[in-house]
Amino acid sequence: MVRFQSVLSLVACSASHVLSYTNLPEVPPGVFNVSAHVEITSTVDAAWDALTNLPRYPDWNPFVRSALAISATNLTLPDQRPVENVRLFFRVQIPPLDLPVNRYTPDNPLHTQFAYDNVTHVQRDLGRLAWSYQAVDALLAAERWQAVSDIGGGKILYESREVYSGALASTLKALMGAGLQEAFESQGAGLKLLLEEGLN
Ligand SMILES: *[C@@H]1O[C@H](CO)[C@@H](O)[C@H](O)[C@H]1NC(C)=O
Ligand SMILES: *[C@@H]1O[C@H](CO)[C@@H](O)[C@H](O)[C@H]1NC(C)=O
Ligand SMILES: *[C@@H]1O[C@H](CO)[C@@H](O)[C@H](O)[C@H]1NC(C)=O
Repeated sequence: MVRFQSVLSLVACSASHVLSYTNLPEVPPGVFNVSAHVEITSTVDAAWDALTNLPRYPDWNPFVRSALAISATNLTLPDQRPVENVRLFFRVQIPPLDLPVNRYTPDNPLHTQFAYDNVTHVQRDLGRLAWSYQAVDALLAAERWQAVSDIGGGKILYESREVYSGALASTLKALMGAGLQEAFESQGAGLKLLLEEGLN
């Protein structure tokens, strides 16, 4: 871990503004993807806590307004953190709400969507989280990865990327691609606000 982080800082310094480093895994390209990356003055621990504390999402996240860890029979689980193979039930805004948000910020009903995903990876050592969506008929599949990395100088890099595939993906791109991209960037900006300035 220590060696990993010092290599990271080296890359970050020598690359200055060029983003040559990523902590997201290689995945097949799919039909399209949306992504965001933002540097935040904070720690990996603080970012990890924010991303895995689902009940606090409404306090800062302009995209995912609610995330609930649920059982296979749709019961709310006592442990509201992402755990591999647990299902998540999301209420999202696409495009996102304007920042800043808090838990009392009303949804725009026209932009509200619901989704069920399965948590596929919780890799605390690597600072990575993933969940995926699979339509029953396989017409649409999506996998979202998020990663946090120490880039030295008191900063971390937050990255998020979702790859969409399947026969309906191009339709989704046409209908919602721009809104999804905005939502991913806005979640990054919301996380930065939370970690650098505290709760709204
Ligand atoms: C995401 O989309 C960009 C731009 O189209 C593409 O260059 C990149 O390879 C894609 N990445 C993944 C993992 O799908
Ligand atoms: C699962 O629970 C959520 C939240 O209580 C509810 O909104 C949703 O409709 C339920 N879904 C099913 C398939 O029962
Ligand atoms: C989640 O995983 C279960 C069990 O593997 C599967 O039946 C279900 O279709 C998956 N749901 C989603 C939304 O990917």
